Amino acid sequence: MIRFAFVILLCSQAALGYVLRKRAVDFVDPTTGGGSWLDNAGSGGGEPLNVVISAQSSPNVLTDSGVLNYAKALGFSTECLGIHIGGPQSANLGDGNGSVNQTVELREDFGSSIFGTCLESAAGGNHFRVFRQNGPTANTGALFLAVSQEEDVTKGHTISPDGYDVGRDKLVNSAIGKKSFGGVTYSTTEQDLTGFLQSGSAGINHGIAIDGVVKLLTVTIV
Ligand SMILES: *[C@@H]1O[C@H](CO)[C@@H](O)[C@H](O)[C@H]1NC(C)=O
Ligand SMILES: *[C@@H]1O[C@H](CO)[C@@H](O)[C@H](O)[C@H]1NC(C)=O
Repeated sequence: MIRFAFVILLCSQAALGYVLRKRAVDFVDPTTGGGSWLDNAGSGGGEPLNVVISAQSSPNVLTDSGVLNYAKALGFSTECLGIHIGGPQSANLGDGNGSVNQTVELREDFGSSIFGTCLESAAGGNHFRVFRQNGPTANTGALFLAVSQEEDVTKGHTISPDGYDVGRDKLVNSAIGKKSFGGVTYSTTEQDLTGFLQSGSAGINHGIAIDGVVKLLTVTIV
């Protein structure tokens, strides 16, 4: 009888711990569940998912409003007054949800949260799309980002040569260390991952070659 009660106590503590604790994995490799490290850009090619925000980040960072605030701390904001250039893209993160649309697209705001993204839409700049790994078979909560650097609108608003690697590195360089926005301070560490994306241009949107490195960010609210 006493032993039975003890088991129940352990179980309820484990359940509570699961809710409150950070996740035990950074992410699950999408290819193990039939997914891909390239999204579907609708052109026959895909954009590389070249940055992952680890599921071991502070849980608040991984929510819609949390990642938006984090992006603002890095100098990004939502798209210019709802003006959207190009359609949404979809990705299969191998989590059992199949192919899903991006949750949000964020653009570099050039120092003004309201009008800066309008400037970016005209002038080119850095932007990224966010996909969340939360399907039933790999519910990690990790965020997969397709980051790219665009040319200005006079050049057709396409990705710059090297735009995937350049955009990724700009984002990561603005993220590492301590950054704040809206009263929240973030501490971000970075790790290079190889062996997930192929280097080269096979299957990549616009045939732009990439170096194949995925940057894993772990973001902690301090
Ligand atoms: C994804 O976006 C496309 C284009 O806006 C839309 O037609 C489609 O219904 C969306 N799919 C889902 C599952 O929301
Ligand atoms: C993915 O699956 C989860 C759990 O089944 C569900 O809550 C979520 O809404 C799905 N995401 C999308 C974009 O359909």
